[in-house]
Amino acid sequence: MVENVVGAASGPAAADIRSLTWVLVVLGTAVFVVFGALYLRALLRRGDGDQGSGPRLIFWGGLVMPAVVVTVVLGFTLATMRNVPAQAEAGSIVVEVTGHQWWWEVYYPEHDITSANEIHIPVHRQVELRLTSADVVHSFWVPALGGKLDLLPERVNETVLEASDPGVYRGACAEFCGLQHAKMAFQVVAVSESEFQEWVEGSRRPAEQPSTDLTSRGMEVFFDAGCDECHAITGTAADGRVGPDLTHVASRQSIAAGSLDNNTENLTRWVSNPQSLKQGVEMPDMELSEDELGALVAYLETLE
Ligand code: CUA
Repeated sequence: MVENVVGAASGPAAADIRSLTWVLVVLGTAVFVVFGALYLRALLRRGDGDQGSGPRLIFWGGLVMPAVVVTVVLGFTLATMRNVPAQAEAGSIVVEVTGHQWWWEVYYPEHDITSANEIHIPVHRQVELRLTSADVVHSFWVPALGGKLDLLPERVNETVLEASDPGVYRGACAEFCGLQHAKMAFQVVAVSESEFQEWVEGSRRPAEQPSTDLTSRGMEVFFDAGCDECHAITGTAADGRVGPDLTHVASRQSIAAGSLDNNTENLTRWVSNPQSLKQGVEMPDMELSEDELGALVAYLETLE
């Protein structure tokens, strides 16, 4: 099991962006301290009649220093922009990410894999991200791995994702996109090349067929309740595209776009009453009986 990684910069782009951030913080603080001190000095010495140092101060503090600071900042910024790749190397893995209010659709065109709210990548390899939106403007950001980039309707923005260390990295929507913007998170799962290939093989398989009475009943409930109108499960007749693909939903770490851990209790709460957990989502409260709910959740949990 890969560990959750918090805080550290774990991608080449993130390391460069972090260095630039520190340069800006240190320079900004230095300028603030120097001018704060000058301001205080001026306040305390007001009226003592010494006007002689004025022109010199304006020349050094108002002309030379800003020129030096702006030049240094520009230099570091240009260097960072050069180091952070805008386009992936030829032959990179392609992942298409589509923002929805309020979840992330994830598609691997090369393997024809559709997932949601979880992006699996191999470490030490550039991944070409193609970002777009199905509705409003969202923004893709995994702080530990790199910069952020907008997802715009009817347009594809490209960026590069790369992780230097295996781990689970939290990503978030970084552009206010409506009521549940704060609950529009996702995970990037970075694993070794061989584990990634295993994941690809597993994800290409159609869903498990129900093997017990309970899970067969759960599958019936899924169709009777109309879940298939919005959700797809490969290997069944369900091919809705409004909500996340559920073919391998049980293998994902979270549900409701990163807002709940994926376990029986949360899945039950979510399916029965999504509006109480994430008001405004497209998914309605299902109003199932307790038996139906139990069977449906049991079925969903077989979709590894
Ligand atoms: Cu999507 Cu904020």
